[in-house]
Amino acid sequence: MDFASSLINWYESNKRDLPWRHTQDPYKIWLSEIILQQTRVQQGLPYYEKFVANFPTVKDFAEADIDKILHLWQGLGYYSRGRNMHVAANQVMDEWNGKFPDNYKDLLTLKGVGNYTAAAIASFAFREKVATVDGNVYRVLSRVFDIDEDIASGKGQKVFTEVANQLISEDKPDIFNQALMEFGAMHCTPKKPNCETCPFVQSCESRLHQNIDQRPVKLKK
Ligand code: ADE
Repeated sequence: MDFASSLINWYESNKRDLPWRHTQDPYKIWLSEIILQQTRVQQGLPYYEKFVANFPTVKDFAEADIDKILHLWQGLGYYSRGRNMHVAANQVMDEWNGKFPDNYKDLLTLKGVGNYTAAAIASFAFREKVATVDGNVYRVLSRVFDIDEDIASGKGQKVFTEVANQLISEDKPDIFNQALMEFGAMHCTPKKPNCETCPFVQSCESRLHQNIDQRPVKLKK
């Protein structure tokens, strides 16, 4: 079986039930991904629920008082995220007629939306075939394929993005992306990965070369 199919099989029997995995609303996906950027899932969950309850649509978010947004943000840190979101929500209202952009390239025009977030919204909401490359993805791919490119370098990031975009499932790019990140978060963990029960244990290049604890390579800048 190919990488994508094995990964998706693993995901279907091991995934966590998380609220943003039950929606295709680009606004809610954007909200969840910005909250989760520098925040753990368990810490981010109540904030996600709170923001969806207070601002059910991007219009509600755009029209909200910035002070109310920052008040609800309390405890999450990195307040620039909340400020950028307010700007982005108003961009959606003013520049996109109140409808979230529906593709990777246009999503990148929103304030605070970088490569990762644009790929997450484009794939989860619109099934666009574009890979989400986060820290989990670097770890899994660097190990399974024993890639020693430096993930702190522009070249390294480009290499991993290309590999991920070659592996991504044709018909389930959204599930593939969720699965790859979930696999890194839950199974192929930074310390003590669960190699004994790993679906890739037979083919994992890095395990073969006994350098799992040296992957990914991250050089100091
Ligand atoms: N962290 C960032 N995005 C996530 C997602 N979609 N699911 C789980 N954890 C995440």
